[in-house]
Amino acid sequence: MLTNKGSARKHLIALVGFGTVAQGLCKILIEKRDTLKRDHHFEFEIVAVSTRSRGTMFHPAGLSLSSLNYLSQNDTPFVENVKDWDAEEMIRESNATVVVELSHTNLVDAEPALTHCRTAFKTGKHIISGNKGPAALAYSEMKGLARKRGCAFLNEATVLSGTPTLSFFHSALKGNQISGLRGVLNGTTNFILSEMESGSSYDDALQQAETLGYLEADPSADIDGYDAQAKLAILASELFDLTIELGDIKREGISAITQVHIEEARREDKRWKLIASLSVRDDKIIAQIRPEKLALSDPLAQVNGTLNAITFSTDLLGDVTITGPGAGGVETGYAVLSDLLTLNEGVFA
Ligand SMILES: NC(=O)c1ccc[n+]([C@@H]2O[C@H](COP(=O)([O-])OP(=O)(O)OC[C@H]3O[C@@H](n4cnc5c(N)ncnc54)[C@H](OP(=O)(O)O)[C@@H]3O)[C@@H](O)[C@H]2O)c1
Repeated sequence: MLTNKGSARKHLIALVGFGTVAQGLCKILIEKRDTLKRDHHFEFEIVAVSTRSRGTMFHPAGLSLSSLNYLSQNDTPFVENVKDWDAEEMIRESNATVVVELSHTNLVDAEPALTHCRTAFKTGKHIISGNKGPAALAYSEMKGLARKRGCAFLNEATVLSGTPTLSFFHSALKGNQISGLRGVLNGTTNFILSEMESGSSYDDALQQAETLGYLEADPSADIDGYDAQAKLAILASELFDLTIELGDIKREGISAITQVHIEEARREDKRWKLIASLSVRDDKIIAQIRPEKLALSDPLAQVNGTLNAITFSTDLLGDVTITGPGAGGVETGYAVLSDLLTLNEGVFA
């Protein structure tokens, strides 16, 4: 079992899901294997991969990265090193030391990812999750189980994809007191609003987002603010140690915004954005998702297309804004890599 405090050890990775993000991660790991070893003393093998429809592959010494690369480009069932396991059995039975949870996000009950995480902790395995469900719905339980087992529960990918947000807060802003944050947390709605700024109708912009593959399987997750709501709940847990039920975050999406609103804002030198905000004052928490008309001087007003951004309100620096990609296979794969490197350093709480 990997304890990993102090010196670097070889990480044995099991992937739950082999979609856009898992394939982006594999691409990075294949390309950077030597530099990760040289610069970060990070060594790994991918020992298992499981998906709902393609089955499970397992080899205790590591699957061939070139065959994983082939399987990224060809949507065929797994035929080599096949095991008759579902993802839960793979987590329980394999020799993996870290499970990367990249199955679909479910914001109703977080399953099956929640069971995957519980099984991993029960068998002493770390969890890195890009899946928002466990962190948004069961953050305290997950952190508690992880701590009890000396394991990590890391979630960098869940908030701004590859743009370092949680690590930025925990490392770069340390020593500051944060009184609140505001952010553009959903790239799809930001893309739609940006298209409307360029003259498209809401329906045409929505269609364009669908054509480009930006919409979630259930478009309501983006359009009606559920995705942003989940990310805000994760930020509340990570940054303020606060548990907020999703239903307690006021939520309004962008579907009521029309060209009339866009033009009206333009005349006022303003721009509509779907803003997630969280502030804590005198033990009172205000958390909400709603479209806001921002002055163009606001850094969040300048974040266009699928980009995401967060402004942290700090006591020592005033407002600090970070911006970057909020989606994409390699981009989100990078967030998983950064969690793997955190694990390698053994500095997780
Ligand atoms: N894409 C992004 O930019 C992004 C950014 C941040 C966070 N995320 C999160 O990261 C996760 C992965 O996203 P993605 O874009 O890679 O999704 P994706 O391309 O749709 O892939 C999802 C994968 O999960 C697998 N899966 C679903 N249910 C499963 C189960 N019960 N057991 C094992 N595998 C299962 C699917 O297998 P089958 O195809 O065989 O059903 C598929 O391989 C999601 O939770 C998403 O919310 C994504």
